[in-house]
Amino acid sequence: MAIEYNEKVLDHFFNPRNVGVIEDADGIGRLGDASCGDVFVMYIKVRGGRLVDIKYQVQGCGAAIATCSALSEIAKGKTLQEAWRLTDDDIAAELGGLPLEKLHCSNLAATVLHRAILDYAENRRGDRHDWQRLYQQQMTNSE
Ligand code: FES
Repeated sequence: MAIEYNEKVLDHFFNPRNVGVIEDADGIGRLGDASCGDVFVMYIKVRGGRLVDIKYQVQGCGAAIATCSALSEIAKGKTLQEAWRLTDDDIAAELGGLPLEKLHCSNLAATVLHRAILDYAENRRGDRHDWQRLYQQQMTNSE
């Protein structure tokens, strides 16, 4: 059976925002999902504790592309703490909903952003331990 996407998801799929690479990224998140074979890479640029730029490369399904695109729009300009709190539910809501079988794609998009933030923390601030604790708390709360 064909998967039905709403207009907003289709718009992000056909016109993905912020695709690309940040050559001098402050943090890079990488994620491959063994169950579907999709691969995500997300790049962030941080200034004054804010995400001033975000780009991504994704090789995956339509929902993977749309969720990365929507996430890049809602995350840009946010503080690291605000971006850290973004969840798959926020992405799905931004897109006006996703088919049930595609909710895991938004989860992967949120996860790859969190990995980019962790990478930033490790590379630039040396407080990876605190971010990992927050990440684990967040995962526990969403279960
Ligand atoms: Fe793998 Fe959508 S099916 S991310």
